[in-house]
Amino acid sequence: MNRPKHTTPAQTAATSDLAALDHAHIWHPFTPMRQWRETSPLIIERAQGEFLFDTDGNRYIDGVSSLWCNVHGHRVPQIDQAVRDQLDRVAHTTLLGMASPPSIELAARLAALAPKHQPDAPSPLTKVFYSDAGSTAVEAAFKMAVAYWHHSGTPTKTGFIGFSGAYHGDTTGSMSVGYSEWFHRPFASMVFPTTFAPAPDSCRAPAPLEAPARSDAPDWPSQDIALNNALRNHCLAELSGILERHADKTAAIVIEPLMQGAAGMICQPPGFLRGVADLAKQHDVLLIADEVATGFGRTGTLFACEQEHVVPDLMCLAKGLTGGYLPLAATLATDRIEQAFHGEYADARTFFHGHTYTGNPLACAAALASLDLIESTNLLAHINASAAIITERLGDLADCPHLRDIRQRGIMVGIELCEDRRTGRAFDPATRTAAHLCETMRPKGLIIRPLGDVIVLMPIPAMPHGTLHRMLDIVIESIRVWSATLRNI
Ligand SMILES: Cc1ncc(COP(=O)(O)O)c(C=O)c1O
Repeated sequence: MNRPKHTTPAQTAATSDLAALDHAHIWHPFTPMRQWRETSPLIIERAQGEFLFDTDGNRYIDGVSSLWCNVHGHRVPQIDQAVRDQLDRVAHTTLLGMASPPSIELAARLAALAPKHQPDAPSPLTKVFYSDAGSTAVEAAFKMAVAYWHHSGTPTKTGFIGFSGAYHGDTTGSMSVGYSEWFHRPFASMVFPTTFAPAPDSCRAPAPLEAPARSDAPDWPSQDIALNNALRNHCLAELSGILERHADKTAAIVIEPLMQGAAGMICQPPGFLRGVADLAKQHDVLLIADEVATGFGRTGTLFACEQEHVVPDLMCLAKGLTGGYLPLAATLATDRIEQAFHGEYADARTFFHGHTYTGNPLACAAALASLDLIESTNLLAHINASAAIITERLGDLADCPHLRDIRQRGIMVGIELCEDRRTGRAFDPATRTAAHLCETMRPKGLIIRPLGDVIVLMPIPAMPHGTLHRMLDIVIESIRVWSATLRNI
């Protein structure tokens, strides 16, 4: 395939100067730097609503919600104003031994919104511990879980159970409960040992469960009810076996509820999350729900856990918490967990953990304004209508011979590419097929990022439906053109 080296239109001198400085000084995350320095970087200067503008004035739809964060669009007057108002008071004060109005108000709001056992009952997740990224929210949850058992007289419960392919962040602890061969190769000596249970993945089911070819089979493996039921039962049985053997040494199970995001948008079959929660309770192991990606409406409910009536012991939030404005994260804990940290000074039960910018007031003010908007704009109804549009439009790709699966939960979507749909044969990862396909969408005005061979659609939840249709036009047309080119090679 002919691949454009420069994916943005011709650059002005000012942009070239910035590009030279970027190449000289910036080490970009998750970016192969030698290749990066051989290309012209896309430099985003400003944004409005669901559009990003580069330094040369080109406009792009923000199809990744600025890395799965943005909720209401960019430069939202209400959030801008809330941050400005807070700037007029104070930009940062510490929560170590002090408090601040926005962090207090936000904690109360989060506790009121957290998943509940009954719709009218208060959530047991009443305590909010702030940090500043998804990884740090997860890291705090791990330390809380281990210290909880320590303070509760069971110091042997120190281990974690994670799910195959999971992603919980890049700090050492959060890395330990996820796995990606490419990410982890140099760090094997740093991560702590974790027991991994299989996560249901309809494209990579163990051989005995693989769906036989049937004339009435649905378009995609992730829609195959029989396969998904079998997968759910298999994975829960495996988890049950692991718990039988390891529960006495396990502090917590950690799960991305309903959808494993970074693994490639892998949907869990209905009942899987519920089953995991039931097994955790049965074996007296804590459940940590990592809602960093799924939180704040993306799966169609405010939190993914709600769809299976699951109330975790610890819940991690970040990304969309501030509407995608500022770095802020929260680990919500039940009263039961927090109370285990109460004691005399000499007992040293204090949670000795916390970051400098914890509960930053500007970020908390943005988060409060974002929560107001989620309610006042009835955002969840808009998201569910958007999800229905996406399902319907992507149905047009049902006959594409180079797609292996289309997976969707709410407005989180993964379109998995393959060399041959009949055999499911994957592309050689070195060809970076999905990355190159996404690059062809840039000149058409869309920014999206793949995960391996999976094209990820992560529209801004408040994206107007007109723009959503335009985004889907670009994606569907680009996939069709790419697939037709492959057929002609
Ligand atoms: C489920 C999940 N947990 C944790 C993280 C890590 O968040 P951060 O990059 O803010 O540290 C991510 C990031 O994508 C995520 O998807």
